[in-house]
Amino acid sequence: MKSVGNTLIASVTPVHCAMLKNHGRLLSKLVSGNVSKSRKFHCCSQKCQFNGESLMVAARYSPPLFSVAPMMECTDNHYRTLARLISKRAWLYTEMIAAETIVYQKGDLDRFLAFSRDQHPIVLQIGGNDLENIAKATQLASLYGYDEINFNCGCPSPKVAGKGCFGVRLMLDPKFVADAMSVISANSDVPVSVKCRIGVDNHDSYNELCDFIYKVSSLSPTKHFIIHSRKALLNGISARENRSIPPLKYEYLYALVRDFPDLQFTINGGINSIHEVTSALKEGAHGVMVGRAAYNNPWNVLGHVDSAVYGMPPSSLTRRQVLEKYQMYADSVLELDGGSKTNVRELIKPLLGFFHSEPGNGLWKRKADAAFSSCLTIKSFFEETLVAIPDSVLDSPIVSAPIGFRNVFSDAKSRLPLPPPSTVRDEEAVLYA
Ligand SMILES: Cc1cc2nc3c(=O)[nH]c(=O)nc-3n(C[C@H](O)[C@H](O)[C@H](O)COP(=O)(O)O)c2cc1C
Repeated sequence: MKSVGNTLIASVTPVHCAMLKNHGRLLSKLVSGNVSKSRKFHCCSQKCQFNGESLMVAARYSPPLFSVAPMMECTDNHYRTLARLISKRAWLYTEMIAAETIVYQKGDLDRFLAFSRDQHPIVLQIGGNDLENIAKATQLASLYGYDEINFNCGCPSPKVAGKGCFGVRLMLDPKFVADAMSVISANSDVPVSVKCRIGVDNHDSYNELCDFIYKVSSLSPTKHFIIHSRKALLNGISARENRSIPPLKYEYLYALVRDFPDLQFTINGGINSIHEVTSALKEGAHGVMVGRAAYNNPWNVLGHVDSAVYGMPPSSLTRRQVLEKYQMYADSVLELDGGSKTNVRELIKPLLGFFHSEPGNGLWKRKADAAFSSCLTIKSFFEETLVAIPDSVLDSPIVSAPIGFRNVFSDAKSRLPLPPPSTVRDEEAVLYA
């Protein structure tokens, strides 16, 4: 194995080549044009000879060490602008956008897909269950220059999961997911990844999860899986309850790291502090994705990422400075659309957790409630409300996070499930060869 930049080039066996070649044939039937045998996968690819033809095949790439999870109605342009002001290095995911939305809103794509350059590195998450629409959506989205495209196989919302096979239900159809991933990869020039759960309803054994990972990774160029480490229950509980009721099983994630050494796994679910992030990485996760904590407490979670995860010097930026920059962005948005599409409330929404646990937070929120209806600019909104927050909070840079938590990741590693029976994998390899 050799390395290019921070990417390891893995050796490729004839079995892999054969699987890719077969799959390439299948996909060229599915995708209209634009399928080439030699695709770029990040900066890492390797030529592989097969019957005189050469295929560029995906090798290992490094996933983001830290990312902010895709969250519908949360990780929009406004939130991502704020997040980027606090962390220069965190990877930012969009909200999930359905392939159909992209295809049918062709004339209004900027509304769904445009982002400012400083949001890089940024990942687009798409959802869908129709290969043709997924292909078209990827082609259209590729024009916007996302750094990676992620496919949603984890959403349990009835609006999504109930719509035929979409979101987490797709975990029950790994061959479709592999086709979708191949289609996405064939229509873009950036790496692709899957975000999924550890199972669905009664399909929650470690072996079933391995079967999903094995089929998707061997039948498509997918090398990176983001694992929300709890299963989804499709009957009876809401999407919100599905993010807390099924127990977290981080041991499945660490077992995948052990059992699929050529793949990359990002851990997700219930990670709330920077110490938990660094512990999860130290225990062997290739990347950590944080959702709610990064939204509800952005200063304390994202403020530590660049130094604690990426080894950069600690930021000297204060909350006041972040707010000044955010105000310039937000007021320019209001000015541009004349308040017709965006209002003060939407632009302030990402800031509602900005003073999490700080003195004055409660009063600030009460003042904010009143100011939403009276203020027409973010400047006037801040003038009206920030008097509630002491200068000591506004003018101090990020302080060290308190230590003191139980290392649930090393606990998880002490109860790893057994590896899947190797006979199953060998038979599968022959089957797909
Ligand atoms: C409001 C909200 C919206 C979400 N929307 C998406 C989504 O669009 N796509 C997705 O894959 N997951 C979505 N999720 C799930 C998160 O990405 C993440 O997997 C989950 O919240 C667990 O991580 P956490 O405990 O760090 O929040 C959403 C979660 C929340 C709270």
